[in-house]
Amino acid sequence: MTYLERLDAAPEADRFQIARKWLDTEALPFVNELREKRPILRTSACTFVADFNDTIEVLRVHQVFTNEPYRKKMAPYLMSEDDTAVHFRDKSAISAFLDRADVPRIRALVGRETKAALDAANGQIDAVPGLTRHVPIRVVEEYMGLQGAEPGKLAEWSFWNQCDAFHNHPWDLVEDRQRIEDNVNRCKQELVAFIAKLLIKRVAQAQLPIPMLEDNVVNRIVRSHLQTPGQFELAWKGLNIGGLLIGTVETSSQATVQALAQLMARPKILAAAQAAAASDDTAAFDGYVWEALRFDPISPYLFRISNAPYTLGAGRPWQQEIPANTAVLPLVLAAMHDPVRFPDPETFDPTRQQLTNTFHFGYGLHECMGRYVGAVIVPEIVRQVLLRKDLRTIAPLGFAGKPLPETFVIGWTP
Ligand code: HEM
Repeated sequence: MTYLERLDAAPEADRFQIARKWLDTEALPFVNELREKRPILRTSACTFVADFNDTIEVLRVHQVFTNEPYRKKMAPYLMSEDDTAVHFRDKSAISAFLDRADVPRIRALVGRETKAALDAANGQIDAVPGLTRHVPIRVVEEYMGLQGAEPGKLAEWSFWNQCDAFHNHPWDLVEDRQRIEDNVNRCKQELVAFIAKLLIKRVAQAQLPIPMLEDNVVNRIVRSHLQTPGQFELAWKGLNIGGLLIGTVETSSQATVQALAQLMARPKILAAAQAAAASDDTAAFDGYVWEALRFDPISPYLFRISNAPYTLGAGRPWQQEIPANTAVLPLVLAAMHDPVRFPDPETFDPTRQQLTNTFHFGYGLHECMGRYVGAVIVPEIVRQVLLRKDLRTIAPLGFAGKPLPETFVIGWTP
């Protein structure tokens, strides 16, 4: 039986759970079938959207398909705002501090840190703690300037915030929501205390007659003077400094380890990617990484809530009116395998036009603020790994029952 035949045969009340579970266990064949046979699938908890153009439309029409799901998790952070003055001001300001001109320096830092971790590991490493979390944390410390936290704390704060913001919604199958909420509340308190201390120190340094601040993103924020009506300026700075950590670590870690696992599962592609890794053409190499991620993106879907009725799929056979207050999940995995935009979608093609047609960094109003940073962290970690000889998987990619990757043990000949 096909997925849809099984779904239609199940009691109405069970269909959401069944479909949602397939997204965790066999996402690609399931979403491919949806796109081909039922591009809009309504269930009791949410509506899935599988067509490329409809996905674009949901993410583009932010006036209707809003970021409301993020509001109670992170307001007044910019991601919880739609097209407002706060969203525009904060995203513009922090994007300027995350200066795109820094990209070569960030890539060099990532390369150095990854190489050092691999050299120290002597032929075997659990890539998640040892590389894909460790290196982004080094970027957060060194480039962004969140220095001085107790070991392990930046990872813990980032992990629980990501779990809550992205994996603790009514359309997530979560066994123990209370555990996530208790942990995220504790982490938020600890993170606020850490950032408050950091800010007090940096503001004091900024006021010394001889400037004592090195150049990093936190210090650029500290030195800035923006009007933030209704908000205490230091609270605004603290909120956006916290966003740097939470935005960077788990997203980069998941993208990196999943891309690496996809490449290592395809020996011929891996050999070609290793040759590209050794060449000077980083753009050609990066194409392998973005293409690998197309088969296993950080999430098969994004999510929005509609605030008004909206006709989706207009003029096409599957046209439907989506009522107000519907949770809509645009299936970016399905869209990135839509032959309309990805000819021969099952073929691994590292030369496909990258980062424009894919949804790795979202799309539209909420497109990732840190995409230029993420776009060097991820491929450079993978590149350094691929420069090692006799690369092999020792223990597969594992989640240990969590929504984010926890382990992927790799070996090589030192
Ligand atoms: C490989 C690394 C990363 C990946 C894969 C990634 C992915 C994404 C995605 C898919 C979205 C869209 C979410 C949605 O539409 O609901 C997003 C938004 C966002 N990301 Fe990233 N991200 C990465 C790195 C970063 C970094 C380094 C930062 C900050 C320094 C960051 C900050 C943000 C923010 C603030 C938003 C919300 C933007 C808005 O609402 O306008 N991300 N990211």
